[in-house]
Amino acid sequence: FVAGVDSSTQSCKVVILDTESGRVAREGRAPHPDGTEVDPSAWWEALNDAITAAGGLDDVTAWAIGGQQHGMVALDAAGRVIRPALLWNDTRSADAATALIAEFGADELARRTGLVPVASFTITKLRWLRDNEPENAAQVAAVALPHDWLTWRLRGFGPEGESPLGPVLDELITDRSDASGTGYFDPETDGYDRELLIAALGHDAVLPRVLGAIESVRDEDDRVVGPGAGDNAGAALGVGAKTGDVVVSIGTSGTVFAVSAKRTIDPTGTVAGFADADGGFLPIVVTLNAARVLDAVARLLGVDHAELSALALAAEPGAGGLKLVPYFEGERTPNLPDATASLAGMTLASTTRENLARAAVEGMLSGLGAGLEALRQLGVPLRRALLIGGAAQSEAVREIAPRVLGLAVDVPPPGEYVALGAAQQATRVQSVA
Ligand code: XUL
Repeated sequence: FVAGVDSSTQSCKVVILDTESGRVAREGRAPHPDGTEVDPSAWWEALNDAITAAGGLDDVTAWAIGGQQHGMVALDAAGRVIRPALLWNDTRSADAATALIAEFGADELARRTGLVPVASFTITKLRWLRDNEPENAAQVAAVALPHDWLTWRLRGFGPEGESPLGPVLDELITDRSDASGTGYFDPETDGYDRELLIAALGHDAVLPRVLGAIESVRDEDDRVVGPGAGDNAGAALGVGAKTGDVVVSIGTSGTVFAVSAKRTIDPTGTVAGFADADGGFLPIVVTLNAARVLDAVARLLGVDHAELSALALAAEPGAGGLKLVPYFEGERTPNLPDATASLAGMTLASTTRENLARAAVEGMLSGLGAGLEALRQLGVPLRRALLIGGAAQSEAVREIAPRVLGLAVDVPPPGEYVALGAAQQATRVQSVA
């Protein structure tokens, strides 16, 4: 058996795969706090609870962890977490992003790292720390991402007294997909850009060693441990995305990404040039307004999701001219952190419950459709959209998506694709270990 983990923004999921049949043998999950600033020990507890719920790892010979990207886990020389992690959805470092762009230029940053900084990326969080908590910044001996830190802990490393193997910072590992979301990693050379790290944090620090797609390490019980992945790259593995597929994931965040053999560089910052977990690239557009747009409008209409879907499908395409601009939480792409949502085109005739439901689905999908268009503009081949994430279960979303996205849409069966991707990686690294 092998295990795959998804430590996401809200919870931890573990799948145990039977490598002979390729089937999921057992699963477990546990919640953790889902704010924008979370003590990593909550993820560690949830991981242990989810492993227990999945029946433990006694019969498991290999494992790998996928996780939410970008979160800043700052460790001191004794391997202790210095302050709660700032997560991908924390926007306090927006000014730090602006400052880094002013210092280096968007073109140069895009060329060196594939990214133009926004508040989500780790580099901006380090600059925020240096500017706002200099005493904490001075103590930083290592910087890890959520999946790196959990991998380190589950292998047996951690602060003295809390871990069997102790605080060996050089044993931190990561993979190129998650490293490519930091803002101080070059996905072309797979090396860190130390100058940028130092410009953000004020000094150098240990960064997790970047393992190749089929490299592995061991845990304290001699199990094989894969490099893991950022959750989007993990989902790409789990869902089996191939060239020409664009994955549209509609969850807490909305992500639109394609596996691509070619690196993309977009100095406008619309498309982030991530690496994938395999040796290729994962150009991606991330929106903040996804499943929760539907939550908000369902709440407003006093209906559940099935009723919202039925209402939306009872309206004509175009919702009688009603348009919902879905920036309920500001927006990351386009970069409008202070934007708000609005409803346009209200007439006495258009303002019905059906049209409002439809406008919500169309508005949310339009945000993702703009991302798809940005990928197309960069020459990424797009033949088919694979719709995943919680909102892909909405019938209205599935029916309306082909029209708004302008592509054929397939909806794979609901599944824990990030955890499955991690489990597949574990299978693969074990076979060559
Ligand atoms: C990707 C991003 C989100 C998180 C969610 O850039 O910020 O998709 O990875 O877990």
